[in-house]
Amino acid sequence: MAGGPLAAPEPVDDGYDPFEAFDRAQGAGRIRDPYPGWAVARERGGIQEVDLRQAMGLDDDVDLEGAPKTYATYSADAVTHVLRDNESFSSSVYSAVIGAVMGRSILEMDEPDHHAYRSLVQQAFTRKAMERWERDIVAPVVHERIDAFAARGSADLVRELTFPFPVTVIAGMLGLPDADLPQFHRWAVELINVTADMNVALAASAKLRDYFAGILAERRVRPRDDVISVLAAAELTHDGVTQRLTDDEIFAFLRLLLPAGAETTYRSSSNLLFGLLTHPEQLAALRADRSLMPAAIEEGLRWEPPLTGIMRITLHDTEVCGVPVAAGTLVNIGIGAANRDPARFVNPDAFDIHRPPSPHLAFASGPHMCLGMHLARMETTVALNALLDRLPDLRLDPSADDVHITGLVFRAPRSLPVLF
Ligand code: HEM
Repeated sequence: MAGGPLAAPEPVDDGYDPFEAFDRAQGAGRIRDPYPGWAVARERGGIQEVDLRQAMGLDDDVDLEGAPKTYATYSADAVTHVLRDNESFSSSVYSAVIGAVMGRSILEMDEPDHHAYRSLVQQAFTRKAMERWERDIVAPVVHERIDAFAARGSADLVRELTFPFPVTVIAGMLGLPDADLPQFHRWAVELINVTADMNVALAASAKLRDYFAGILAERRVRPRDDVISVLAAAELTHDGVTQRLTDDEIFAFLRLLLPAGAETTYRSSSNLLFGLLTHPEQLAALRADRSLMPAAIEEGLRWEPPLTGIMRITLHDTEVCGVPVAAGTLVNIGIGAANRDPARFVNPDAFDIHRPPSPHLAFASGPHMCLGMHLARMETTVALNALLDRLPDLRLDPSADDVHITGLVFRAPRSLPVLF
């Protein structure tokens, strides 16, 4: 973080509470457990056409003429096939809504642009950078958060740790001044809530561009040890032609880091904590033997991935697991459903940190596989170890009412009330 101790990000002076704003916008359509429905669907086939009328609860007289055909994948094989066949299944599907708010980012690009852009931005995500972030940003942010409640004997781990810490880490990686963090967090929440209020998200997107533009201009003159400076200097030479990122490409990537890097990690670390707190014997095993940490993190991601579905659109007629899929079809890629496919995981609904390793799909697969997965794993490891080191006898508050994970596409518990 640039200069001085880390500022606490909320609540801001004007009473704005980022978690309240985020939680309110997420409210509509909360679904407690989509997994039984996905299991039933998977029995009918790994990939199927979606009955839009039924899925959207539309009356028979609503005209669906012109609506694109939509298919959904439920098995690990079908999901893996779609993710790896990026010549048939295009990420351009994201350009209309997400692209309008983020700008043209790596997420919505197909090859060859995607490879070139990804090679440039990943220069900011080196192993050396990761080691520095762990020491200088992630560990101090996590410990400062825990300092605030460690003596109290109780806390809500969502509000007090898992929600605020990943966005603070991103601000640190970008080298933003501490004083800007509350404002940055507010724009981040407004941007992430794009499906709740597009106009607010577009306004936040413009404010973030203006804000980043000032910082980028400074870094071009006086580079520092941060992601914005690396992106400003990143270059790639191919066949004698040197490519650099344009300002707009840098802004789009920085905006993408907010939903991609902050929201997912908040949700995944909360879901893992929920799994451990509701299975105290596994929490005790992890506390006693930290070599179980990588397996626990992967199991949390498999069992309750923070993002259960992503999208693609077919560029030409193709086939998935023997099922023909026509050009122009929207394909909903069921990461959550695939992660509980009994063909790949024994007793898939059980949370079990001792299960034999088998690759899950929480970070996707193929060319768009999550760029931040090592960072996400490192952040979760630091947060979990800090909680286990500092809070003896950590347990769910028995007086708390019905703590559970909720959501359809994005899932997390709304609170994690604990005693220690
Ligand atoms: C547990 C936490 C995370 C999960 C479950 C997750 C999941 C995913 C998934 C499923 C995709 C593929 C999206 C698609 O192809 O449609 C993705 C892409 C991406 N993620 Fe993550 N992510 C996490 C954390 C992070 C973090 C911490 C960062 C960076 C700070 C990050 C940055 C990205 C970027 C830049 C992409 C786009 C990659 C591309 O299109 O080539 N993610 N992530």
